[in-house]
Amino acid sequence: MMIFVVAVVLCLSPQVWGLSDDCQSSLQKLDCGYVGINQTQCEAKNCCWVPVDPNPNNVPWCFHKTGPIPHYTVDDIEKTALGVKITLKTNASDSPTYGTPVNPLVVEISEQTESRLHIKIYDPNNKRWEIPTSFSPAPSDPSTSPSSTLYTYKYPDKGSDFSFSIMRDGGDVLFDASNLQFFDQYLTLSTKLPASSNVYGIGEHVTPYLKLQPRTYTLWNFDTATPELLNLYGSHPFYLDLRPPGNAHGVYLRNSNGMDVVLADDSLTYNVIGGVLDFYFFLGPKPEAVIQQYQEVIGRPHMPPYWALGFHQCRYGYKNVEELEAVVAGYKSSQIPLDTMWSDIDYMDQYKDFTLDPDNYALDKMKPFVDSLHQNGQQYVHIIDPGIKAQQGYDPYDKGIQMDVFIKDSKGKPLTGKVWPGITTFPDFFHPKANQYWENNIQSFRTNYFPVDGLWIDMNEISNFCNGECSSEDDSATIQQAPKPTIPYNGFDPNSPPYQIDNQGNRVALNVKTISTDAVHYGGVLEYNTHNLFGLTESIATNLALEDIRKARSLVISRSTFPGSGSHAGHWTGDNHADWENIYTSIPDVLNFQMFGIPLIGADICGFAGSTNEELCGRWMQLGAFYPFSRNHNAIGDDPQEPYRWSSVANKSRVALGIRYSILPYYYTLFYKAHRDPDPKDPAAVVLRPLFFDFSDDSNTYEIDKQFMVGGSLLISPILKQGASTIQIYIPSGVWYDWYSWQVVTDEGKMSKSLSVGDDIPIHIRGGSIIPMHQPAMTTAASRKTPFSLLVALDSSGSATGDLFCDDGNSLDMKSYLFVDYSVDGKELKATVSGPGYSGSLSSLDAVNILGVGTKPNSVMLNGQAVSSFTYDDSNKSLKITSLNADMSKDFTIKWM
Ligand code: NOJ
Repeated sequence: MMIFVVAVVLCLSPQVWGLSDDCQSSLQKLDCGYVGINQTQCEAKNCCWVPVDPNPNNVPWCFHKTGPIPHYTVDDIEKTALGVKITLKTNASDSPTYGTPVNPLVVEISEQTESRLHIKIYDPNNKRWEIPTSFSPAPSDPSTSPSSTLYTYKYPDKGSDFSFSIMRDGGDVLFDASNLQFFDQYLTLSTKLPASSNVYGIGEHVTPYLKLQPRTYTLWNFDTATPELLNLYGSHPFYLDLRPPGNAHGVYLRNSNGMDVVLADDSLTYNVIGGVLDFYFFLGPKPEAVIQQYQEVIGRPHMPPYWALGFHQCRYGYKNVEELEAVVAGYKSSQIPLDTMWSDIDYMDQYKDFTLDPDNYALDKMKPFVDSLHQNGQQYVHIIDPGIKAQQGYDPYDKGIQMDVFIKDSKGKPLTGKVWPGITTFPDFFHPKANQYWENNIQSFRTNYFPVDGLWIDMNEISNFCNGECSSEDDSATIQQAPKPTIPYNGFDPNSPPYQIDNQGNRVALNVKTISTDAVHYGGVLEYNTHNLFGLTESIATNLALEDIRKARSLVISRSTFPGSGSHAGHWTGDNHADWENIYTSIPDVLNFQMFGIPLIGADICGFAGSTNEELCGRWMQLGAFYPFSRNHNAIGDDPQEPYRWSSVANKSRVALGIRYSILPYYYTLFYKAHRDPDPKDPAAVVLRPLFFDFSDDSNTYEIDKQFMVGGSLLISPILKQGASTIQIYIPSGVWYDWYSWQVVTDEGKMSKSLSVGDDIPIHIRGGSIIPMHQPAMTTAASRKTPFSLLVALDSSGSATGDLFCDDGNSLDMKSYLFVDYSVDGKELKATVSGPGYSGSLSSLDAVNILGVGTKPNSVMLNGQAVSSFTYDDSNKSLKITSLNADMSKDFTIKWM
């Protein structure tokens, strides 16, 4: 394939294409932008036109000529407290395609921290659209620059063409920016990448790979049934670049406008249709440190309530309360854990938010049902959509009109679109009264009906069943091409920008299946600029409302997300399909969101669209038991897929969810570490991890996306193929133990291995880990009451470490807690407790299981006192110490001799 491509390129002689030698001698092709472009338009931009078809490396057809484009030159350089302010000017005349270049431009380079560099390119004379920090944070500049930095940077002298580069200390060029162009509705900048770079992130897309392959990744929030590689519900302009031998850095473009991120084999180009070029660079150098540094900018992840980490059951199409009751009973009688029962839009009266279907979900049945869940230590969550039915007499609509909180059309009237209830308006969370409006609605549902424990916010891209705007239920969304831009450029137009992003892989119009881009938010803010922020703003309002009403941590799961969403909500990967491709693509999807600062993420287990089958659902329940957010959800009309429907699936679910529930103290601690202010000794910021996070010096791990780590201690290798009798897994370096038998699998690692597949999901424990555990139970509440145990897996030097965060699992202020560090060195386990202390009741430590103990000990001591109950198993070299009854809130030592 590759040879063919080269041949095609070589065959295209300048004579054939009428190009100057510039175009042929170009070593690297930097995208010159795309406007549904043809050769004439490309060459009119003074760029080279060389079609490449087929094009597996996403080589741009229209690219800049060799060497820097003489577009912006350095006019002035002024040193600042944190770096430098460079003023650029251009002599370029108006572009027929994009209009007048912004002139002058300012590039402000600020050394914000040792590992974070901020570079912002903006118009000093006219305020352009920027994301409000109240929605997606951005740190303000410190007063002084850091005493040392992991980066250096270069920019040209006065009078030279502008470019900039950022180097890691040792000299590796991390970002090499060129070809800056800055028009009102078209901003572009490219960076060179090493050939075959390892770039991850840039979402949201369903990808059949974790390591990004060359192609164009479009960011424009869109409701679609998760086709691979097309722009989807959320936008995350962040990437992580990993370079052998294991240094990573991250790049965040803080911009909410639509954009194409064009990844080629050796370059990355941003083509953005508005805002400013506001870049943050994170120097890592370990992948986890990059994410920690990114989360310092966008906000740390929300600390979920403990129950949110339990198992959830949902479906679209539960017909009535009786069905909900039957499902909860089904779980109970099959002894499969269930923490939360969910309702989709079925519970509503005519699909109107904040109402209850009086017939199928009658209050006199629903209220006792929800009460009984609560009595059993279970929870209830339901869906709400942003579309508020435009119907006089319907309180949420009337109040919205009174409070004037709906998004307006270009003429100043509440914009109407169409969603499940018919013609709807949409709350404008830019409006200062919108949060109150939203909270009032949530509160009145609770007053009128019953309390929900969390909210599922769907359709918030904003999804619309007609394009842009409609007032008749007959209107429907049709896929329409974006209007061809007018050339010459005619001035700012939100409906027809001159650069057409690759919306849905086919440059469809920006208003397709959403609201008009000329719709107006509070303060005259255009939807064109804020489109990608709606889900974030709704997440903020929803979480604030629930916290205020419930005075406890709640669960908000949002379909649409943006950088910052993780501080308020979790996410699910949307309308996936019940097939073997989708069980696999859920893994890159879930791992990407760990990098996007939204660790509470999962895919619809067993598959949403299409009927699942016994084998797929069994394997998916096993995998899904390890998604941070673990929920089985199904589409209306498809066959039921609760795990108790098949005995083999029930068995697999009991085992896998049993493991999940037993390691919840470990999961919860991982969430806490991602949420808290970072501990300089422990960069933990991510709950689920690609293998390259913990083994970044092992390039064998860079493309692995069929296995993942839970924290740094557990390696999960799910079965993703129908009828598989073996799977090929990779075991990174170190000692690893099999979860089920506690046998050492390898004491060196760094090997591929074929495993025979049985009923259970393969799990390996990394030597050097200490995992705090409870016993499994039917709910997280019940499991929390069981005694603690510690699973200690020794490494080759006989050491291990681990930790535990403990609080009541609910409180907002999180002031009453304890944090325990565990360590084994030699033959002694130490627990060291810190934190303000936890005033609630706490189970005691009953058992410690130590793997990798070379010889049978003669005695075991707890705090210097002999312990009589211990057994040693020579076949797997494990030591089991039981009946300890140790106080978890106090320091202790356990020695074996
Ligand atoms: C779309 C969501 O993605 C899906 O999960 C939900 O079931 C339907 N809307 C109906 O509310």
